[in-house]
Amino acid sequence: MTLHRYRNCATAAAAVIALAAIVFAAEQSVGAVSAPGVQAASAAKRSVIDGVYTVEQAKRGREQYRKRCILCHLDNGEGQQAVPEIAGQSLEREGDKEAPPIAGQAFLKKWNGHTARELFEKTSTMPVGGANSLTPQQYADLVALIFEMNKFPAGPQELAPAGDQLEPITIGR
Ligand code: HEC
Repeated sequence: MTLHRYRNCATAAAAVIALAAIVFAAEQSVGAVSAPGVQAASAAKRSVIDGVYTVEQAKRGREQYRKRCILCHLDNGEGQQAVPEIAGQSLEREGDKEAPPIAGQAFLKKWNGHTARELFEKTSTMPVGGANSLTPQQYADLVALIFEMNKFPAGPQELAPAGDQLEPITIGR
């Protein structure tokens, strides 16, 4: 009986130690994710005016944009607004009549107060008919480009290709 109780106690102690180890490991891995370059800022609420992407990242985004988005959303993401009203304009510059602007006042008004996560998820449905046809990294690069086209400043840190890390970033001023 005494031995039995002792065994239970030992089991309980082992369980506590195991639990502590798990909690410790979890803390370590969270620390590891937020450590290099990302720092504590990744968890903090911030806005696109704080510089949430890098110049280099937007440049990568532009390469993808030229291949997969420009036909519909046009050079600077202005959609149909960018089409000069000149007769005889070449067809390839006409864009998609349905494609909304992804830069400029109308776009910013629509997305004001939404999160970078929502925009990342929306962008991941593009191009039309090719949802998730690019990698999460390529979609994050495209979102960086969209921020650049909307004249939000670049910063020291890339936009992460993960929805949960984009959640605290608000679009707007
Ligand atoms: C075949 C034409 C076409 C291509 C190519 C295309 N889009 Fe679109 N895009 C649309 C249309 C049409 C909509 C509006 C319908 C919708 O939201 O699904 C849209 C909507 C969007 C929106 C949301 C705009 C808003 O006002 O909410 C974003 C952001 C976007 N596209 C980004 C992209 C990116 C980035 C690419 C390249 C990977 C791309 N699109 C390629 C036609 C296109």
